Amino acid sequence: MTRLGLPRLHLSSIDSTNERAKALARAGAPHGTLVTATEQTAGRGRQGRAWTAPPGSAVLMSVLVRGLEERHAVLPLAAAVAVCAAAERTASVECAIKWPNDVWVQGRKLAGILVEGRPQEGWATVGIGLNVTTAAEAFPAELRETATSLALSSPERTPTVDGVLAALVADLGAWLDADRDEVLAAWRSRDALRGRSVRWKGGEGRAAGIDDTGALLVETSAGVQALEAGEVHLLR
Ligand code: BTN
Repeated sequence: MTRLGLPRLHLSSIDSTNERAKALARAGAPHGTLVTATEQTAGRGRQGRAWTAPPGSAVLMSVLVRGLEERHAVLPLAAAVAVCAAAERTASVECAIKWPNDVWVQGRKLAGILVEGRPQEGWATVGIGLNVTTAAEAFPAELRETATSLALSSPERTPTVDGVLAALVADLGAWLDADRDEVLAAWRSRDALRGRSVRWKGGEGRAAGIDDTGALLVETSAGVQALEAGEVHLLR
């Protein structure tokens, strides 16, 4: 069912590929529509943050997914698993996932995912930013210690942006078709937080994996809590 990548709209510069993909979705674009850009002028991340990347250095893409009503809850998790698969196929890296869907290599963020849309209308846009050729000094100063790219993590085997995009579109197609249990198992095998001390807006505790809806389980002095959304930070 999930052939992704057609039609494809590539723009040399755009505010945000997610914004364009959502506009196309509202105008009736088909499942699989792909929007890519060389540069974004107002790229957006989770929790209202900005997403920046030097022109031509990163995969900047949004794909429209329709007809996934019952699988919507694990869509953000499936996307993270697909990003890991594509990065590992095209470069010499091992990826882990920080709940819910940040992709990390050696404790640094390689890629971020922003899923938006209208589940009640049966569609979502999956936006992915994946740093490919970014040099250390090209990251904003505040991200220099926490971000990475495939060029930095895999200097001996650095793919091109187009090579990673092709792998990613194929892996996303496969993982969006996978069973929910398969997605959960693959995600759990890459869980970067399990057993680690974490803090979130409501408290602190020890991350204990995810439940079958994708919520993060945290052991606290008051018992196990399930976090459905938001941001958690590693304490140590
Ligand atoms: C995050 O980690 O906060 C999510 C970042 C998502 C960034 C991508 S880049 C392509 C797409 N367009 C956007 O404006 N955001 C997503």
